[in-house]
Amino acid sequence: IKSLPHSVKQLGFWIQESQNILVLTGAGISVSAGIPDFRTPGSGLYDNLQKFRLPYPEAVFELDFFRKKPQPFCSLAQEMWPGLKHVPTVTHSFIALLAEKKKLLRNYTQNIDGLEYLANTPAELLIECHGHYRTSTCISCRKPADAEKVKQSIVELGKVPLCHLCGSYVKPDIVFFGENLPERFHSSLHRDVKKTDLVLVMGTSLQVAPVSMIPSMASGSKKALINRDLVGDFTRKGSLFVQGDCDDRINELARFLGWHDELKRKHER
Ligand code: OAD
Repeated sequence: IKSLPHSVKQLGFWIQESQNILVLTGAGISVSAGIPDFRTPGSGLYDNLQKFRLPYPEAVFELDFFRKKPQPFCSLAQEMWPGLKHVPTVTHSFIALLAEKKKLLRNYTQNIDGLEYLANTPAELLIECHGHYRTSTCISCRKPADAEKVKQSIVELGKVPLCHLCGSYVKPDIVFFGENLPERFHSSLHRDVKKTDLVLVMGTSLQVAPVSMIPSMASGSKKALINRDLVGDFTRKGSLFVQGDCDDRINELARFLGWHDELKRKHER
């Protein structure tokens, strides 16, 4: 324990005294599972989309662009479709352990890889802020589409699914730039930020609103960031930056808390 970084010990104390932890996660927590993040230069998704000949990388997740040219997203979704290839990381298991310890108020995740579910974080404690691939909707008439058929069309054929009612394009319910976040995001967040005693942010560049505003909305709480880079506003009083890879810092944190064996068991299950 002595050899642990000071910041990890401080975060450990904060977790010990917190009852309502709001965990805010991004692509960095899934990097060790083999899923690239979006913005890390070189390895991030946005630096590796040349084959789609996009005007700019984020276009692949923009609704207006999809209306005109749906194929780049469709091909990307064919590659990214959550399946059996990737398994949850130690960090995902730690979030599920926080739930078991009755300390998790909510996990707001920006990720669309479904690894929180696989790690058994209870559904009611999880908000997938940027949606998921499990359901799909027509972008014009907003009718829900048959999930199995959509998956078949994208994953097996690489073809954009069409709405059987109006003939327009169907898209998995991933939140694109220009779309609203799920209703549950807004209704839960409103209540959660009032109750939160610690916001724990992990593996995100905090560049995308409105999720990026969550730490400042929980104005009465302590704030900690576990990330490779310092992002957001974590140098103020009452804030803590724990630098490094999520899984490394989480393992250290679990040792500090005396949860290491439990975490290992949970992760190996
Ligand atoms: P980003 O790629 O923007 O940020 C990932 C952050 O995690 C960066 O600060 C990295 O340095 C850090 N990081 C990477 N690997 C790490 C590791 N092993 N341990 C610790 N930190 C690590 O990803 P997000 O912030 O999640 O939207 O991106 C937010 C949204 O932008 C995404 O949800 C996506 C995208 O447009 C949609 O897909 C709708």
